[in-house]
Amino acid sequence: MNSELARHFSDRAKEMKASEVRELLKLLQVPDMISFAGGLPNPESFPVEIIREIANDILLKDGTAALQYGITEGYAPLRESVAERMQKKGMDITKENVLIVSGSQQVIDLMGKIFIDPKDTVVVSSPTYLTALTGFASLQATFESIPIDQDNMRMDIFEERMKRLSRRANPPEIVYVLPNFQNPAGVTMPEKSRKKLVDLASDYDFIILEDDPYGELRYVGEHLRPIKSFDDEGRVVYMSTFSKILSPGLRVGWAVADPEILRKLIIAKQSTDVCASVLGQRIAHEYIARGHIDPQIKRICELYSRKLRLMLAGMKQYMPEGIRWIEPEGGMFLWVTIPEGMDSSKLLEKALKKRVAFVTGKAFFADPKEGTNTLRLNFTHPADPLITEGLRRLGSVFNQEMVHRWDKSTTENEEKKMLDAVRGSLIGKS
Ligand SMILES: Cc1ncc(COP(=O)(O)O)c(C=O)c1O
Repeated sequence: MNSELARHFSDRAKEMKASEVRELLKLLQVPDMISFAGGLPNPESFPVEIIREIANDILLKDGTAALQYGITEGYAPLRESVAERMQKKGMDITKENVLIVSGSQQVIDLMGKIFIDPKDTVVVSSPTYLTALTGFASLQATFESIPIDQDNMRMDIFEERMKRLSRRANPPEIVYVLPNFQNPAGVTMPEKSRKKLVDLASDYDFIILEDDPYGELRYVGEHLRPIKSFDDEGRVVYMSTFSKILSPGLRVGWAVADPEILRKLIIAKQSTDVCASVLGQRIAHEYIARGHIDPQIKRICELYSRKLRLMLAGMKQYMPEGIRWIEPEGGMFLWVTIPEGMDSSKLLEKALKKRVAFVTGKAFFADPKEGTNTLRLNFTHPADPLITEGLRRLGSVFNQEMVHRWDKSTTENEEKKMLDAVRGSLIGKS
């Protein structure tokens, strides 16, 4: 566009940058590229035939209503069936607490619109979901980052930080967390920490946005209670989606919130897109009503846990010493840390030449100085043989880089030793 017009952009738009992950998705198009980038469900998991049948029945029986606008809150029978599923997870709610949205990503946007003023603080884990960072940043939010460990956000550091921040004139408004198989790091928050977080929300007066797109995709261990199930003050807004358990193309997700917050979310949504796709909502509802959703979740878990096992076996076989990764209990991602001082974007350049792609970790950190030596691998999308072949290629890139690094550091060490020896002999002579 000509720059004359670009000057009309809002300050917000001027700050907006294309996400590295979305850019990387284009690489999937290159022939024989094996991509661990992106976060796509496997197309094998899409129940195309069943959805075709359901869509056909809906259009035959109630076609005009399915093609009409709907109310902003969402299709009532779908709100009801989502509420029932959430009650089974321990949430004390009704359909009046449920808002159907156009993909759960929209909840991040709506929450930002109703809670964030410029310069307000959002607390996030470090790393966290990239698109939440860009979404909140587009509203000119600032971030406080809390490091993670195997148990997700470090609660000791979080509590300490909240104690300090609560003394400020403008303490944090929202704490954004992904308790289950976090994107990108795959870590899960223990129940004890979930309860603690709710207690701290009450002590320090903040709202929790609980993002749970992967909760149903557990391959090992038992399901844990959502943070929302511990909430008796209406401080937790829960969000989830049909994207990972049915189809992202339907663009149907949901929020569960206290009525006062839900009312504001609805008003914000009215001016965004009026309502989620009515046809999509009816398909999702009918899919649940006909009893398909739980067997579908079971099938997806079988498919993805097999892929995770392949991934972990390939990592063990091909990764050189010094490369570390977190074994997730579910979800879609494997988080990898390479030795300090190495830069995953340099490795990506080399990997792309060998026709294998991943996402560098830096983008998932609010602080641009963090995460240089990290990267994220998606294991749900590549076909089984490509997982192994992709890791073989990646392993050879990492191996080469480690050897190069070792050579460089031994050469530097040897040079240093020689210089020291020369210096020593000169001193000896003087
Ligand atoms: C952590 C997280 N939150 C939210 C979303 C949004 O999902 P959707 O808008 O498809 O429901 C995603 C999608 O990848 C995600 O990884």
